[in-house]
Amino acid sequence: MTLVQLEHVTKTFGKENAVTDLSFEIKKGSCTALLGPNGAGKTTTLRMLAGMIQPTSGRIKFCGIEDGDIRNHIGYLPQHPVFYNWMNALEFLVYVGELAGLTKKSAKEKSLELLKLVGLSEAYKRKIGGYSGGMKQRLGIAQAMIHEPKLVMLDEPVSALDPVGRREVIEMMRELKKKTTILFSTHVLHDAEEVCDEIVIIRKGEVALNDSLVELKRKHQHDSIKISADEELSDWLVGVKQVQGVRDVLYENQTATILVENITEARKNLLSYIAANNLPITSFQISQSSLEDLFMKVVRSE
Ligand SMILES: Nc1ncnc2c1ncn2[C@@H]1O[C@H](COP(=O)(O)OP(=O)(O)OP(=O)(O)O)[C@@H](O)[C@H]1O
Ligand SMILES: [Mg+2]
Repeated sequence: MTLVQLEHVTKTFGKENAVTDLSFEIKKGSCTALLGPNGAGKTTTLRMLAGMIQPTSGRIKFCGIEDGDIRNHIGYLPQHPVFYNWMNALEFLVYVGELAGLTKKSAKEKSLELLKLVGLSEAYKRKIGGYSGGMKQRLGIAQAMIHEPKLVMLDEPVSALDPVGRREVIEMMRELKKKTTILFSTHVLHDAEEVCDEIVIIRKGEVALNDSLVELKRKHQHDSIKISADEELSDWLVGVKQVQGVRDVLYENQTATILVENITEARKNLLSYIAANNLPITSFQISQSSLEDLFMKVVRSE
C-alpha cells in the first residue's frame, strides 16, 4: 500500500529549481533511501514532505489525500538538529512530547520507552551537551518518534558520524524499521544498502533511478572476469561468448569484461578455453560490478 505519493513536484528558489518534476512513492512499512550527491535536492524534498515548505507546483498525497494537515503523521530529524544542551535526554523528550500534544504523563511514559529503543536508558540523566555525536543523533531519532508517526524522515542521519556512531545509528534504524515507515537521505550508497528496501536516486533535483534494492542488485550486481592481453583480443572473443556460463562480453582497450552466471563454473570453463586456444593473456582477474559503479554512473552522467 502507498503511504506517500509525490506527483510532478517542483520547488523553485528565486530562479533556480531545487527539485524538478519529482515523482515517486513510499510504500507503507518500507525503508526508502533518498540518495544523491550534495545539492541534489534531498533536504528540499524532505522539508516539503514534512510540510515545512510548499512545492511550487505538483502534488504530495499522504494516504491518497492531498492538502490535509499531515504533521501529526510525520516525524522529522533535520540534517543539523539543534538540542538544548543544558537539558537531559528525558527532559528534552518530555518537552518535545508535550509540544506534540501529549499529556505530561504520557509524554514521560513514551519518552522512557523510546530512550530504551534508542539505547539511551543508561544515559538519560546526563546533560545532552556531554553526549557523543552518535548519542545525539539517536536522541534526535527518538524525538522524531515521540508522537508515533506513520512516517519518520531522517535527513542524513549518519553523515556527520564517525564509524562507531554510524554503526550505532544504522543498527537503530534496523530496529525502527520494524515499527514504522522510514524515509532517510544519504549521499553514501553503502549506508543506503545497509538498511533500505527501496532506493530513489536524485541528481540535480530529478529522479535518476527508482527501484527496490533487491531488483537493483539483481540487475546491476554481476560477477565478472576481466582478461587482458598484449594483442588484439576481439577476434577470439567471438568464441568466448559461446563458453558455458558466459552472459555477455564487453571489450575495451584490450581488456575484456566477461559477465558470468556463476564465477566458479565460468572460471573453470574460461581457463580451459584460454589454454585450448592459446590466448596470449597477460591477466585474468575476478571482479564484481557493484551498485557503487551504477551509482557513480547515474550521478555523473550528463
Ligand atoms: N532556502 C533556499 N534558498 C535558496 N536555495 C536553496 C534553498 N534551499 C536549497 N536551495 C538550493 O537547492 C538545491 C538543493 O539543495 P538541498 O539542500 O535540497 O540539497 P541536498 O541534496 O540536501 O544537499 P546536501 O547533500 O548538501 O545536504 C541547492 O542548489 C541549494 O543551493
Ligand atoms: Mg541536505
